[in-house]
Amino acid sequence: MPVIRSIIKSTGSYLPEKILTNQELEKMVDTSDEWITQRSGIKQRHIAAEKETTADLAIKAGHLALDRSGLSPQDIQGVIVATTTPDQTFPAVAVKVQAALGIPPGMAFDVQAVCTGFVYALATANNFITSGQFKRILVIGAEKMSSVVDWNDRSTCVLFADGAGAVILEAQESEDESIHARGVHSTHLYANGRHANLLYTDGGPSSTGQSGHIIMEGREVFKHAVQCMADVVAEAIEKNNITPADVDWLVPHQANIRIIESTAKKLGMSMDKVVVTVDHHGNTSAASIPLALDEAVSSGRIKKGDLLLLEAMGGGLTWGAALIRF
Ligand code: ACO
Repeated sequence: MPVIRSIIKSTGSYLPEKILTNQELEKMVDTSDEWITQRSGIKQRHIAAEKETTADLAIKAGHLALDRSGLSPQDIQGVIVATTTPDQTFPAVAVKVQAALGIPPGMAFDVQAVCTGFVYALATANNFITSGQFKRILVIGAEKMSSVVDWNDRSTCVLFADGAGAVILEAQESEDESIHARGVHSTHLYANGRHANLLYTDGGPSSTGQSGHIIMEGREVFKHAVQCMADVVAEAIEKNNITPADVDWLVPHQANIRIIESTAKKLGMSMDKVVVTVDHHGNTSAASIPLALDEAVSSGRIKKGDLLLLEAMGGGLTWGAALIRF
């Protein structure tokens, strides 16, 4: 019996031109390059221009993924954008991407699961494809986190950044039921709203009428992140009857190098097999995984046929993972 899987047809990304270094942050708040590097691993990040919106970033990343796929906009039936920082409360960023790229009328909506957003969006698109409802979906993670950062709060403003990453998922039939077949093999999604108060914005349309700023209990989030990531990657490995040694690349959400190293250590994976961009991208929330993926694919490190383990954790708290044969 042939199985339908969603394969990653192409990737794309976009980073705003402006780079903000730790040295520049030293002049803005009471911090130091040493503190930021030691606690988070971040050296620099990209920040969108004042008039550059999340949709602008998403459109550029989506455009590149479309170009590289060799497909035409007419071949795409759906757009899903993971974002926490939409241009407007509505319409969704996804409909702006659809219109700008000339994608014909079809499904388009945003997913909001903060830093886990891309894994949620990927899982949603994968379910549409494997159910046979759609053949090709453009999935994007895009954020202008700088718009919800309190630039006077040194505990958060040094961490977050802007950018967008995209993949085109395409239905492919295969007789191969093994882990060697290309495509998404499993996705694992979680949320625990009891910990919503650890990471949130102090505003929103129905409360203050303003989008608000990020408030984070960093140390508590850190503890949960380490445990949740370890649990969800273990689940992905067990579900697919593989061992960590079978995974070619860990592509984690880029929040903090210490969380990434701890997950790799728990898996017994050398850091050579982990895609790390947090040092030059910072925490771009839902954009971080597709940005890291595109960087590793574009540089030739991730190759067709490699087994990828994606994992993320963010506000909500939300967390999740996906195992994909690229
Ligand atoms: N520069 C200098 N000192 C600082 C800074 C700064 N930028 N920020 C905080 N400090 C100080 C604090 O005031 C504190 O001082 P005190 O000891 O005198 O009170 C000290 O540094 C230690 O602060 P902690 O918050 O305990 O530092 P910690 O080692 O926990 O590192 C960090 C902070 C980097 C935020 C870490 O906790 C972390 O990465 N947490 C997880 C973040 C994350 O993964 N978020 C999830 C995704 S984000 C999303 O979903 C939107």
